[in-house]
Amino acid sequence: MKFLGKPSSRRAAFLPLCLLFLKILHPGHSHLYSSRYAGDKVIRLIPNTEEEAYALKKIYQQLKVDLWQPSSISQVSEGTVTDVHIPHNGSRALLAFLQETNIQYKILMEDLQKVLEKGSSLPTQRSRRSVSGYNYEVYHSLEEIQNWMHHLNKTHSGLIHMFSIGKSYEGRSLFVLKLGRRSRAYKRAVWIDCGIHAREWIGPAFCQWFVKEALLTYRSDPTMRKMLNHLYFYIMPVFNVDGYHFSWTNDRFWRKTRSRNSRFRCCGVDANRNWRVKWCDEGASMHPCDDTYCGPFPESEPEVKAVANFLRKHKKHIRAYLSFHAYAQMLLYPYSYKYATIPNFSCVESAAYKAVNALQSVYGVQYRYGPASSTLYVSSGSSMDWAYKNGIPYTFAFELRDTGHFGFLLPEMLIKPTCTETMLAVKNITMHLLKKCP
Ligand SMILES: *[C@@H]1O[C@H](CO)[C@@H](O)[C@H](O)[C@H]1NC(C)=O
Ligand SMILES: *[C@@H]1O[C@H](CO)[C@@H](O)[C@H](O)[C@H]1NC(C)=O
Ligand SMILES: *[C@@H]1O[C@H](CO)[C@@H](O)[C@H](O)[C@H]1NC(C)=O
Ligand SMILES: *[C@@H]1O[C@H](CO)[C@@H](O)[C@H](O)[C@H]1NC(C)=O
Ligand SMILES: [Zn+2]
Repeated sequence: MKFLGKPSSRRAAFLPLCLLFLKILHPGHSHLYSSRYAGDKVIRLIPNTEEEAYALKKIYQQLKVDLWQPSSISQVSEGTVTDVHIPHNGSRALLAFLQETNIQYKILMEDLQKVLEKGSSLPTQRSRRSVSGYNYEVYHSLEEIQNWMHHLNKTHSGLIHMFSIGKSYEGRSLFVLKLGRRSRAYKRAVWIDCGIHAREWIGPAFCQWFVKEALLTYRSDPTMRKMLNHLYFYIMPVFNVDGYHFSWTNDRFWRKTRSRNSRFRCCGVDANRNWRVKWCDEGASMHPCDDTYCGPFPESEPEVKAVANFLRKHKKHIRAYLSFHAYAQMLLYPYSYKYATIPNFSCVESAAYKAVNALQSVYGVQYRYGPASSTLYVSSGSSMDWAYKNGIPYTFAFELRDTGHFGFLLPEMLIKPTCTETMLAVKNITMHLLKKCP
């Protein structure tokens, strides 16, 4: 999408510096992202007929909307909710069209820039550290997250080991934390990744929260102690490091990686469509400018290749694969690429059912659960399906809060409740693994 395209590279290089200055000069009243979202709207639409869905697809293409839900125009269909971010210069045309055609809609955000600047979801003058040390209730930049990992690697060497599994397209290290009590005995493992999609900031915040909770409660909580004694957790707090960084400096709503394409101006690949499992079929796009672009070939993205290599190498030990996304409030399991039931469905299904109940017990927040294809939408080439096909029996994707009120701009105030309830779900799934499935 052109709208998501990059500003000139010179401007891109200046932006982080500008942000820094603005933070100093205008705390609270910043021109974040150069005010590029001023007047943009987020609108929820529900096409009631096939004709309406068809008409919407056409106008989305024309106006180059940034689709928030679902992730690709091809998934827009009769009866499904779509949330679109429409640039300011296209919103009048879209609203006129909607009134003319009588398609149901609701404006979720009148002015996206204002939502951003409320400081609800962006670093402003707030401290990056809390009184007691690290602040887990704000979103952290990539640099901050990596510094945090280095720090833990030094201070908690008994439970944590940090290593790199490769380099991103732009040359950043792909760091993973191995968490768990070191013992000589054979241990099964759980893989957790966050931030495959850059703009889903609650993901990395959850990965950090998970590590914090593990370290904090290892001694006092028997469940956590059991988890860390019997298992290793491989945790990758930011999978798509280049994209995440870009979402802090240039485009808050960037989703893909940052790899260049020799024939198109658009860059980036959807790192959750780039896996060798029904690659580039339904629910993925062959066009480099689309947000669900599958890439030129499977594992074309160095980030995907690095994780796939790691999982291939360790698949004998890895019993579960968990991937964290936003937003939708869902707990999904395979398949993504087809409507079919996995073998041993009942074990996975009951793990999901219990996890969702555990999550709900905290604040009453409801999650839907089920196969990704029928619960969310069909998508091919996803990491979850790939992990499952490669022999990891429990594979899940979480779509964290919310259901569209804030969407990708989930306020920092909601990091704590979101992570607290999600933590219970993850512990529940993990304990399920340690038992034999009936
Ligand atoms: C809105 O502005 C962008 C960039 O300034 C331009 O590329 C796009 O075509 C415009 N859209 C409409 C509907 O005018
Ligand atoms: C983590 O710490 C160990 C030593 O305790 C060190 O060998 C290793 O290089 C560190 N990891 C990173 C990524 O710096
Ligand atoms: C998992 O959640 C269920 C409720 O859904 C609860 O009954 C069970 O005790 C939980 N198990 C663990 C180990 O937390
Ligand atoms: C299904 O369960 C059986 C028996 O418990 C096991 O041998 C088999 O590997 C499982 N298959 C999958 C795909 O997990
Ligand atoms: Zn996602």
